[in-house]
Amino acid sequence: MYRTHTCGELRAQHVGQTVTLCGWVDRIRDHKNATFIVLRDRYGVTQVVVDQAADETIRATTRELGSEYVVCVTGQVVARGEGQANAKLETGAIELQVTGLEILNPCRTLPFLPGGTDPVGEEVRLEHRYIDLRRPLMQQTLLLRNRLTKLIRDYMDERQFVDVETPILGRSTPEGARDYLVPSRVQENCFYALPQSPQLYKQIMMIAGYDRYYQIARCFRDEDLRADRQPEFTQLDIEMSFVDHNDIINLIDGLMVRLAKEILGLELTTPLPRLTYDEAMRRFGHDAPDLRFGMEIVDCTPLARESSFQVFRSVAEAGHFVRGLCVPQGGTALARRRIDQLTAFVKDSYNAKGLAWAKLEEDGQWSGPVSKNLPAEEQALWTSTMQAKPGDLLLWIADDWTVTCKALHGLRKTLGAELKLYDPQAMHFSWVVEFPMFEHDAESDRWIAMHHPFTAAKDDHVHYLETEPSRARAKAYDLVINGFEAGGGTIRIHRSDVQALIFKLLGMTPEMAKDRFGFLLDALQCGAPPHGGIALGLDRLVMLFAGLDNIRDVIAFPKTQKATDLMTGAPGTVDDQQLQELRIALVKAAKPT
Ligand code: AMO
Ligand code: AMP
Repeated sequence: MYRTHTCGELRAQHVGQTVTLCGWVDRIRDHKNATFIVLRDRYGVTQVVVDQAADETIRATTRELGSEYVVCVTGQVVARGEGQANAKLETGAIELQVTGLEILNPCRTLPFLPGGTDPVGEEVRLEHRYIDLRRPLMQQTLLLRNRLTKLIRDYMDERQFVDVETPILGRSTPEGARDYLVPSRVQENCFYALPQSPQLYKQIMMIAGYDRYYQIARCFRDEDLRADRQPEFTQLDIEMSFVDHNDIINLIDGLMVRLAKEILGLELTTPLPRLTYDEAMRRFGHDAPDLRFGMEIVDCTPLARESSFQVFRSVAEAGHFVRGLCVPQGGTALARRRIDQLTAFVKDSYNAKGLAWAKLEEDGQWSGPVSKNLPAEEQALWTSTMQAKPGDLLLWIADDWTVTCKALHGLRKTLGAELKLYDPQAMHFSWVVEFPMFEHDAESDRWIAMHHPFTAAKDDHVHYLETEPSRARAKAYDLVINGFEAGGGTIRIHRSDVQALIFKLLGMTPEMAKDRFGFLLDALQCGAPPHGGIALGLDRLVMLFAGLDNIRDVIAFPKTQKATDLMTGAPGTVDDQQLQELRIALVKAAKPT
């Protein structure tokens, strides 16, 4: 037996016992008459004392110790002396008077220490992930992830959901990203695609009569990575039969109530607020708005149409929009230089033509570049439309709908954080529903499915499918937490003819549809129940519940922004023999022009 207790376990009640602990040397402090070793494991830390009373061999071994050595310590639990107790440590009432010390394994000099406060770059942490994962924060996060997953499994199990595994080697399911392909050795010139999600398998499970499916599923998407995206990530994937969108939303509302209560001690009120996609774009310029604060977009287009400010008027007359934000006390908080930076930001990031602004002074007058373009009576009208108070900053973007949405969302997000318009500890849960069925892709002049091609239209919008696809709204819903899309799902098409129509609308010939999705079209003709589901991004959920802002910090072995694993060196090259078996010839990368 290596150990009798863990490093987080000993309390005053253990005083007098002889125990054995194993762990890593977190810190060593040499005092004149004694050496203190802080021993650490996953459960906590315990202080070990090697003093004059210790045997000479133990004192010699102690002199050999270095940071992160793995040791086994036997000793007597003693109460710490008067005034020596450490209330910050769970084991702070006691220490271990050493009677035996064995080095189980030494440790070479490390690029950083798990207990250290020196900030090291993320690359160094990822390369030496085994050390990074020893850091208490990483351990807490992975334990939180484990707890969250357990709570999810319990919740699903109580409701008769069946956990079914689906293939990793499969056929491509379109979720809008590029596939990761795996060459088949046996089937010449053929490839598997790693699943972007188990979408079609879970629909097939409904057709097979399983009624309630869930899986904590690994998904793979070759897409541009950001702080909240990984090429390989995990979904809580759910599908149900004989349900409408309210059933799915209620199920997830209940799950969020459970998780918020158990993990954060927070009481959520349900139903969680819902807004439609159109409303979200109108009020916040984004389909996953951060509702921890207000500062909603104000539409000033009607005022602009009558305005004497030519920049605004011409945009409004051309059928575009003048929309703005009233930044509370932004006039006081933001210097001219900062506003110039924001102007550059909206131009560079969103292709906006400019950023018009004015500050509302104490006397109700405007200052700033727009003020001279608008007479005082007009200014008063704009002030009241934007419900501005003295000290506020007024910002406007005059452009087409999409640019106003994107730029104002970007400004709202940036300024919300900068001016601390919300409590960073707050959690806000909501739904965005009724997404458009399709987006128009200008490049290919084609309709593409906004969620995925298996999504049903709202009953009263089915007639738009063949007449005005852009107006058709879907039975779709996204769960939004603090401005992040935490999950998304839809009610599915359960009729083969309707599914075929959607494929056609998306530009697929019947032959293409049959080749890629023939099995689905067939299955839909073989007794398919009405069904629908959702997938929550598990990594994002953990990130949000842990109060972190980097998805890599909630994944044990994440990939970098360039989709590499710095510890193992994946992706790597393979030997010629492997390539030959797969009949793959490498093409030299073209020189950048
Ligand atoms: P969707 O594509 O919206 O839906 O994905 C569901 C949720 O998965 C998370 N997510 C990601 N998390 C980390 N890294 C990524 N690259 C990444 N991509 C997506 C998001 C997202 O909301 N099959 C459908 C679901 C359904 O219709 O039931 C699907 O996959 O939190
Ligand atoms: P100008 O009359 O061109 O000097 O512009 C006056 C102000 O309006 C400047 O602050 C510009 O940044 C801003 N502006 C110009 N075009 C737009 C636009 N399309 N939307 C918002 N502001 C604009």
